[in-house]
This record gives sequence, C-alpha cells and structure tokens, in this order.
Amino acid sequence: PTIYVITPTYARLVQKAELTRLSHTLLHVPQLHWILVEDALQKSTLVSNLLRTSGLSYTHLHMPTAAQRKLHEGDPNWLKARGVEQRNEGLRWLREDRRAAAGGGGEQGVVYFADDDNTYSLQLFQEMRNTLKVSVWPVGLVGAMKYESPLVQGGKVIGFHTGWKPSRPFPMDMAGFAVSLRLILAKPDACFDADAPIGFLEGSFLQKLVTMDELEPRADDCTKVLVWHTRTEKPKMSTEKAMQAQGLGSDPTWEV
Ligand code: UGA
Ligand code: MN
Repeated sequence: PTIYVITPTYARLVQKAELTRLSHTLLHVPQLHWILVEDALQKSTLVSNLLRTSGLSYTHLHMPTAAQRKLHEGDPNWLKARGVEQRNEGLRWLREDRRAAAGGGGEQGVVYFADDDNTYSLQLFQEMRNTLKVSVWPVGLVGAMKYESPLVQGGKVIGFHTGWKPSRPFPMDMAGFAVSLRLILAKPDACFDADAPIGFLEGSFLQKLVTMDELEPRADDCTKVLVWHTRTEKPKMSTEKAMQAQGLGSDPTWEV
C-alpha cells in the first residue's frame, strides 16, 4: 500500500527549515505520496520550488484558514485548532482524485496526518503501512507528558494513557494514528470539525470511522515511541530589527 502523508503548513520564518527536514525524512520512505497543503490564499513559490526539487512524489494544494478561525499574534495556541481546513482539503483531494484513479475505491493505501514540525522515525512508516482500518501508537513529548499512548491488553486498545479528560473520544494526538484509504473512501463524510472543542479534534474525525475496539495497536503493542511532538522555537529577530533601523538589515530578497 502507498502511504499518503497529509501535511498542513503555513508561512513563517522557520517554514523552509521545517519542510526541508520533513522532506528528507520522507525521502527515506518507499512508496509514499506527500500531500502538502498550504494555509494560504495561493500556492507560494517557496513551497512550489521546495516540492519540485524534493525528489518526492507529491500533490501541492492550498486552503486558507477561515478568518474567524485564524490565531492572532499573542493568542494562546490552544484557543483554536490549527491545520484543520488544510487536512480536510487533503481528504477532499484523496476522495475525488484517488477514487477516480482507482475506479471506485479499490486502491490500497494508508493516510497519515504529519504536521510539519514533528519528528518521525522511519520505523513508524513500516508500522502503519498495513492498516486495515485505523492503526495507533504512542506519541512522545506531548500533552505536557513524556508520552501519551493507547493502553493495550490482549492485542486490543482498552483505554488511553493521557493526563487530560481520558474519557474524550479517542484522546490521541494527530501524530498517533493512520487510517486506511479504503475506510476514508467508504466514509466520505468523515472530516475534522474545526469547531470541535479543544482536545476533541482528532476524536471528531475518528469517531466517524471506528470504535475503540477496532483500533489496531502498532509499535510493539503501543510500547515504543516512534514519533515526537517536537515544536520549534520562534527565532528572535531583535538584532535584525536593530540593523534594519540602521539600514543594515539582511537582504530581503533572500529566501530563508
Ligand atoms: C497540536 C497537534 O499536534 C496538532 O495536530 C493540532 O492540529 C494542534 O495541536 C491543534 O490544536 O490544532 P501544535 O504543535 O500545537 O499541535 O500545532 P502546530 O504544529 O502549530 O500546527 C499543526 C499543523 O498545522 C502544522 O503542520 C502547522 O504547519 C499547521 N498550521 C499551523 C497551519 O497550517 N496554519 C496555522 O495557522 C498554524
Ligand atoms: Mn506542532
């Protein structure tokens, strides 16, 4: 099966660095198609060039976040979910384009939602490749804990190790599951609910697809961390600003 990786991304100082690192991870994975969805009114040259020279099989899409859902400078980041419209746009492309290509949904594939700033072990992609419905595994450094994870007993998920509302439907980070393409094509209305309360985004999608009992544990019965919810520090620009004031700022035509 082909692994379809859906990644939302948005313009900021570290975007090219994040996408460079992620693309280099993905280059090591056989039979992978990258669906990169820009949170923007139009596709950017930075992302277009990066994809064209990446050596990856890819689809470049864009979908701006609705104005009333966009975070503003200084807002706490838990206020509104991020990357939602972009993941849904990736799902729309899969359902319209892949269904047509497969002549009706018979195609083998797995869909994974990979944010542009996380850290992914190559082993993770081997674990997810054979997914019947939804496969799951631990995520490191998330939820203000060392890891969050499904709890497995006798090969079945029986609960979740998480510090916050463990009774929420599917209390897992976006990085902690993959879905078979067949299931996504079979449930054409399942998508992420941008208005879901905080912490309920992943569940808003998964509860339309499976029950807890159907989850397929990976990574040695969910005992190995193969993906980390890393976050990149925002670079300081104080010296840049001071030098700009003296007419000595960095060349604005450089792509960084
Ligand atoms: C956590 C989860 O890991 C995300 O999967 C979830 O979408 C997010 O919370 C949420 O609450 O919505 P976090 O590290 O806080 O992730 O979020 P970001 O990494 O800042 O954003 C997730 C993805 O959306 C990234 O790929 C990012 O590039 C993209 N994004 C972010 C946009 O497309 N537009 C934005 O305005 C912000
Ligand atoms: Mn992140």
